[in-house]
Amino acid sequence: MNNRTPIIAGNWKMNKNLDEANALVEEILVYLNEVSKLSSKVVLIPSFPFLSSINTIIEPIHQVFLGAQNCHQADSGAFTGEVCAEMLRSLNVSYVLVGHSERRQYFNETETVLAQKIKQCLKNNLFPIYCIGETLAERESGEFFNVLESQLFNALQGLQAIEVENKLVIAYEPVWAIGTGVTASSSQAQEVHAFIRNWMVNYWSKETAEIIPILYGGSVNAGNSIDLFSKPDIDGGLIGGASLKARDFVDIIKAAQA
Ligand code: PGA
Repeated sequence: MNNRTPIIAGNWKMNKNLDEANALVEEILVYLNEVSKLSSKVVLIPSFPFLSSINTIIEPIHQVFLGAQNCHQADSGAFTGEVCAEMLRSLNVSYVLVGHSERRQYFNETETVLAQKIKQCLKNNLFPIYCIGETLAERESGEFFNVLESQLFNALQGLQAIEVENKLVIAYEPVWAIGTGVTASSSQAQEVHAFIRNWMVNYWSKETAEIIPILYGGSVNAGNSIDLFSKPDIDGGLIGGASLKARDFVDIIKAAQA
């Protein structure tokens, strides 16, 4: 037993137009009525242009929060095309994905930059969801614990326990499981989540490590979510493909109910 509230976050990536995005939220809310008392937090993470409109729909709904897929590492300034944390806060965003593997891979985000992004989120009262995960080659070589450890250390070093407690969220997303239909087995995922929790015990303290939620992501669906969420260190999920279908997403939310 632990006191962490599960989080189910839907990362829509670069999908949906405005009408489709609004319709998806409305549909999710209809299905959510099937859950009598929501005991998890739900985070919807659409593309930037739709944050404001989706905020209007979900604002009155308890336990449903808005997330963004990225933010820039600077306070403000001459960075054409970028969006900073303060802007997101002003749109009522609560969570921000930092270091998703697609950002690392296609936008060359380094952990030096990711560390700055995490600090920007914390400074602006946003909860960073820091994504880590190994590639298939790193898993097969057996090097993956070292990879994960350096991803944690490089982006989180220097942060005090008090800065991260009740704010930081970690997402373990093995790159080989994202969008591939291949999920980590629940025992593979639990093994890594326990490793991450233990890293936080050593880096901060047992108390701090017990507070910080660790989400699993990578081909989570309604079928495999019950098994994954039954594991003691898996505190919910970061859902890609299945979050674009209201029925599937709400079934995953249901799997996380106490
Ligand atoms: P997936 O994506 O659920 O489609 O595998 C997860 C993610 O990229 O966050």
